[in-house]
Amino acid sequence: MKSSTKNIHVGLHQSDPIFGSVVPPIYLTSTYQFPSVREGALRFAGKSKGMVYSRFTNPTVAALEARLAALEGGEMALATSSGMAAITLTFLHFLKTGDSIVAHPVLYGGTCEFLFHMAKRYGINVRSVDFQDPQKVEAAVDRTTKLIYFESPTNPLLEIIDIKKITAVAKKHKVITVFDNTFAPPPLQFPIKMGVDIVIHSLTKYIGGHSDLIGGAIIGSKKLLEPLFAHSYIFFGPTMSPFTAYLALRGLTTLEVRVKKETETAQKIVKYLKNNPKVSKVNYPGFGGVLSFEIKDGYRAGEKLANSVKVITLAVSLGGVESLIEHPASMTHSELTLEERKNSGINDGLIRISVGLEDEDDLIADLKQAFAAI
Ligand SMILES: Cc1ncc(COP(=O)(O)O)c(C=O)c1O
Repeated sequence: MKSSTKNIHVGLHQSDPIFGSVVPPIYLTSTYQFPSVREGALRFAGKSKGMVYSRFTNPTVAALEARLAALEGGEMALATSSGMAAITLTFLHFLKTGDSIVAHPVLYGGTCEFLFHMAKRYGINVRSVDFQDPQKVEAAVDRTTKLIYFESPTNPLLEIIDIKKITAVAKKHKVITVFDNTFAPPPLQFPIKMGVDIVIHSLTKYIGGHSDLIGGAIIGSKKLLEPLFAHSYIFFGPTMSPFTAYLALRGLTTLEVRVKKETETAQKIVKYLKNNPKVSKVNYPGFGGVLSFEIKDGYRAGEKLANSVKVITLAVSLGGVESLIEHPASMTHSELTLEERKNSGINDGLIRISVGLEDEDDLIADLKQAFAAI
């Protein structure tokens, strides 16, 4: 099956064997009846497929997990209550005191906060090197290194990192690669095919697609994810609610058409920005709905532009049906010190836009009137 077919069909009928409803029902139950003590014992021992308790598994959540795994080409997926829950659970499962992680410096702000400020509380060492140069990644790996972590396109500069080159380094040194694919979900990019071990998603973004849920996912092989489930997931308890899983499944069905249309509109906005004398640089990898650009006059001008839009909404997040604008220096990346922001290339005049499904002419007209105000 091609990805657009999987995207509609996987997990659709299997969760309701009795009525065969076309849409997966929302199973609002915290616990499950055992037909006998013996069956209960088998379920606890993981020797029967029946469910035990909704912090572990739930049929609606399982339908979403099956679809996410199929879509990304993994054997298994675990849905979580947020993208950050997926990221921190993965770190806390694979890393212990004395271990190290090698990460690219430009990452989602929350991930930066955990890696560059919080990880030391747990005795985890973080080495941040430029992933544009795989030799630097290789040089940073030593026998304490357990994880290599990155995103591509990066947020908010939309740089492209060569995924295959990084996974080759990781395989050579037997280190697990964890990759946040939130910015380029299927069908844009399939990291597992490029050698990545674990794919992370913030489902809050493109996959949910309607800015109405917070969720995350961890996708990979059974060999890596079954122990993560048994030892960490069920005890940290970052579980997704069945209602959120239903919304995410509903959002997923239109992922491909949304991404296609948003890409077309983003390409037109990029063309407009490249011809705008008030813009010094436009960052866009050529696909997807997220773009960023630098305004020549810096912080105040960036602030003024973001305050002046009328169709585009001033809000963080991305991947929803409505276009959003944000100013990383004062919002998503404000937790970083000035030096960290400088090292990450996030200048004061940088603006990020997530293009939604509005008409392209309306969006460009909105930007034109906002630029006129600065
Ligand atoms: C690339 C990326 N990863 C992870 C996250 C965190 O996801 P959540 O907000 O669902 O916890 C975000 C949120 O903006 C993101 O942009």
